[in-house]
Amino acid sequence: MATRLVLDCDTGTDDAVAIMLAALHPDLDLVGVTTVNGNVPVELCTENSLRVLDHVGRPEIPVHRGAATPFAREDFPTPRSGLDRSGMHGGFLDLPPAVSSPASGGAVRFLLDRFASAADAEEDLVLVATGPLTNLALCLKEDPGFARHVRRLVVMGGGHQVVNVTPSAEFNFWADPEAARVVLRSGIDDVLLVPLDATHQALLTYQDCEALRSLGTPAGQATATMVERRIRAHDVDQSGSERGTAPVHDAVCVAVLVAPEVVTAERYYVDVETVGDLTVGRSVVDVHRRSGRGPNARVAMAADGRRFVELLLSTFAAG
Ligand code: BDR
Ligand code: CA
Repeated sequence: MATRLVLDCDTGTDDAVAIMLAALHPDLDLVGVTTVNGNVPVELCTENSLRVLDHVGRPEIPVHRGAATPFAREDFPTPRSGLDRSGMHGGFLDLPPAVSSPASGGAVRFLLDRFASAADAEEDLVLVATGPLTNLALCLKEDPGFARHVRRLVVMGGGHQVVNVTPSAEFNFWADPEAARVVLRSGIDDVLLVPLDATHQALLTYQDCEALRSLGTPAGQATATMVERRIRAHDVDQSGSERGTAPVHDAVCVAVLVAPEVVTAERYYVDVETVGDLTVGRSVVDVHRRSGRGPNARVAMAADGRRFVELLLSTFAAG
C-alpha cells in the first residue's frame, strides 16, 4: 500500500522537485499540499505548487494556501527571494501559469482536520514539511492535540556543521525560529529532521541534469531546468559547496519515505535558538548529550547522494 503524505512547503525550486517526487512515485500518495511564506511570498508558493502539479498531470491534488508571515515575528525579512540575489528561486517557477486554482479552506484548517481524521481512522499519514514551520506551529497553537494526530513528521531544517543564511543558521529555521521551536518541543513522537549536513551530501551535477532532461518526461525536464538554476545560484552564493553542484534539500525528505537508506540518522535532542544576536535560528543538536534531555528527533547527518539521484531518475522516467 502506498504511503500517504501531506507536503507543507514554500515552493521554491527544491520544493518543486519534492512535489514532483511525491506526486509521481508509485509508492506514494500525495493527498494535499499546503503552502507557507518562505522562499517566495505565499501567493507565489501557492501558484508555483499548482503549476508543478498541473505540469506533471496531477491537478486534482489540492493546494491550500497557508501563513503569509512568521509565527511570532513581524521583523523578519523573509521571503528569501528578497534577500537572495543569486536567483536560486526567482519568483514564479519557469513553468506555464496554473490552470487549476487553490483549494478552498486555508492550510491550517486543512492540516488540523486531515490529521485529526487520520488519527481517528488509524490511517498512516505522514507530514513532510520543507519550508518555515509556521503552519505547523499555528496548528499546535490552535489544537495541542495536533502533536498526537501527526504520527510521523519529516522536516527539512537546521544545520549542525553546514549553514546557509547566516554564519550560524539554515534558512527554514531562521525564517521562523519560534515556529521551529514550538514544533520541536511539541512532543510529536516520530520526527525525522533532515538538516543541511545531509542534504549537502546529496548534490546533483550538470551531468545529472542532462540525464534527467533526456528522460523526455515533463518531470525530468522540469527538474533538469530547476536544478541547473540551483547549480548556477549555488556557484554565486554558497562558497562552501563544490562548484557545479547543488543540493535539492526538500526532495531528500520525500525520498526517505520510499528509500530510507538515502539518509543515515541518529536520535538526538534538538532545539532552535530564538534570541541570540548572532545565533538566532540556529539548530542546536545535542550530539555530545550535554543537555540531559532525551532525544526528540532522529537527525540525518549523512546522505547517499547517488541513491537519491537514482530514485529521481527512476521515478521521473515514468512521469
Ligand atoms: C531550505 O531553504 C529553502 O530555501 C529551501 O527550499 C529548503 O527548504 C534549505 O535551507
Ligand atoms: Ca523549501
